[in-house]
Amino acid sequence: MQAWICENPTGVDALTWQQSDTPQPKAGEVLIAIEAASLNFPDLLIVQIKYQIKPPLPFVPGSEFAGTVQAVGDGVTHLRVGQAVACLPGTGGFATHAVASAALCLPLPAGFGTVDAAAFIMTYATSWHALIDRAQLKAGETVLVLGAAGGVGTAAIQIAKAAGARVIAAASTEEKCALCESIGADASINYSNKNLRDEIRSKTGGQGPDIIYDPVGGDLTEPAFRAIAWRGRYLVVGFAAGGIPSLPLNLALLKGASIVGIFWGDFARREPKANAAMMAELANWYAKGKIKPVIDRTMPMADLKQAYAYMGSRSVKGKLVMVNPKQKTPLLIR
Ligand SMILES: NC(=O)c1ccc[n+]([C@@H]2O[C@H](COP(=O)([O-])OP(=O)(O)OC[C@H]3O[C@@H](n4cnc5c(N)ncnc54)[C@H](OP(=O)(O)O)[C@@H]3O)[C@@H](O)[C@H]2O)c1
Repeated sequence: MQAWICENPTGVDALTWQQSDTPQPKAGEVLIAIEAASLNFPDLLIVQIKYQIKPPLPFVPGSEFAGTVQAVGDGVTHLRVGQAVACLPGTGGFATHAVASAALCLPLPAGFGTVDAAAFIMTYATSWHALIDRAQLKAGETVLVLGAAGGVGTAAIQIAKAAGARVIAAASTEEKCALCESIGADASINYSNKNLRDEIRSKTGGQGPDIIYDPVGGDLTEPAFRAIAWRGRYLVVGFAAGGIPSLPLNLALLKGASIVGIFWGDFARREPKANAAMMAELANWYAKGKIKPVIDRTMPMADLKQAYAYMGSRSVKGKLVMVNPKQKTPLLIR
């Protein structure tokens, strides 16, 4: 097998593409031939040891991937050799093969392609948990999505629309705004050249959005929060801009508004049954065509450093997905 190895946590430049023996699964594990692995924001942080999960060195980055089961360890009953799966173990995906806990693998229904599957779990689970579970979105409400052309942002647009909301997408370029409208947003705001608070007010008839989905933070948070509707829910999803903003709490009082923290990873660990039910419903929505990952482009796995550079340029729309050439017959059958 080949894998990108992080031996020296100084960032992307120190990663090396190395050959090694293909590992075999232990009890409760499966060996997966990886077909596609998406880039998520934490993949950038983890190779600099800036992410909350700090794997022991050396490790293979790549939080989320999809492929075919090639071997199963003892005690694995819900997966079989040849089965297509998606998996989000946090590491291991930027490689040709990975051993993962079977419990973290989602069997893919027929028709669920591995490129879409590799770009699915993190973004759609986060956005569903945020909008449907935590914010209790109701049809007819207005949702403002910041960083709307990014990974979780595009998923949030699609989920909010499918749930019957009016969606306003906010992003930093005209191209990103156009992409958001092409996937269903009812209106858009380019926040690089407009006053965000005024634009939100004018696009909501002065009422403000019922829900604000914020994966960006930084300088956007306070003007957005100042425009929220009475009884609004402000979803704290992430800090892609780097800065962790502070808010004067009197604003929450004045709007009767809630500030709601979103941490999908811990939700999945603490409430596995609710998470499994949510994933089943998301797969159902995918099968019905209500949601579909926006893939900016696929790139060969060996070009990972170029992909990281592209992600760092803030130009990606939707998701970047690394792909391996299709692998052949299973190595091992147990
Ligand atoms: N809470 C959770 O459970 C959870 C789960 C998944 C992800 N997250 C977090 O959500 C955030 C977004 O994740 P994502 O996968 O959607 O990332 P992404 O695809 O890279 O999108 C992030 C968006 O943030 C905006 N942005 C503003 N300033 C930026 C900067 N300096 N560098 C990069 N992007 C910047 C960009 O949109 P514009 O150019 O339009 O501003 C970009 O499209 C991350 O902080 C991630 O850690 C949280």
